[in-house]
Amino acid sequence: MNEFQTKRIGVFDSGVGGLTVLNELYRQLPRESILYFGDTARLPYGTRSKAEILQFVREILTWMNEVGVKMVIMACNTSSALALDEVRSEFDFPILGLILPGARAAVKTGRRIGAIATPATAASNAYRQAILEIDANVHVWQVGCPEFVPLIEQNRLRDPYTRQVAMDYLRPLLENQIDTLIYGCTHYPHLAPVLKTILPPQVHLINPAYYVAKAAARELQLLSLDNQGGRCLPHTRFCVSGDPQRFSQLSRQWLPEPPNTEKVYLSDTRLASMPLNAVDL
Ligand code: DGL
Repeated sequence: MNEFQTKRIGVFDSGVGGLTVLNELYRQLPRESILYFGDTARLPYGTRSKAEILQFVREILTWMNEVGVKMVIMACNTSSALALDEVRSEFDFPILGLILPGARAAVKTGRRIGAIATPATAASNAYRQAILEIDANVHVWQVGCPEFVPLIEQNRLRDPYTRQVAMDYLRPLLENQIDTLIYGCTHYPHLAPVLKTILPPQVHLINPAYYVAKAAARELQLLSLDNQGGRCLPHTRFCVSGDPQRFSQLSRQWLPEPPNTEKVYLSDTRLASMPLNAVDL
């Protein structure tokens, strides 16, 4: 074992979306220890500018570097779409994003592919570009879904209003008869029970979280960074920039055990925080 193998994998998102990636890591890489960061003081990311996302991502990666991680997974499509290419070369550890693994998986099943994503990810065209680079003959539709993240972060998963909003977002994709749908935001698999009641059963659902975990496993092995002798139970350090109790409370429904969450200060996140659109968290 080398000294890096027992280090943590850094995983970050704006909030609870990255837990869908974390759960895939628990399943596929049970020996690895994770440092999870949710930038809850500054969510949602999906209505932010590229400059803001770049600044936040650099702050998070700098902090993770100081804490000491062997790899970082951006468990956030918005960061992957807007910042990954620029920041990848700025740090010494490997940094993985969701767009390419998601796009690769989608072209395996789909000819008519829909992607639901945050407004920033949809506007970036990241999924369309990645998919068409692999296969220029498929059709791609992207829909920005600004209300989903606030509704999930407010735990309004079973609210009839959420179903109504989901129907509105999915309508254009259903009209175009998609055969495959990408969860283009890591928060959205939390809505799977709702979305599955609206989508026809033949539509393939692609969760990029599954594929990025597979890519992480491959990369760790390739670089001899995989933890071969480590603990077998999930052992995760949870940190947020906002209210730790709030995060613990909301997260426990998606985690094998209730998390202990610490508050960390990356920069003055209170100054940078902004209210959620039309909702009060
Ligand atoms: N879950 C993140 C993503 O995949 C960020 C969502 C948000 O904060 O708007 O894009």
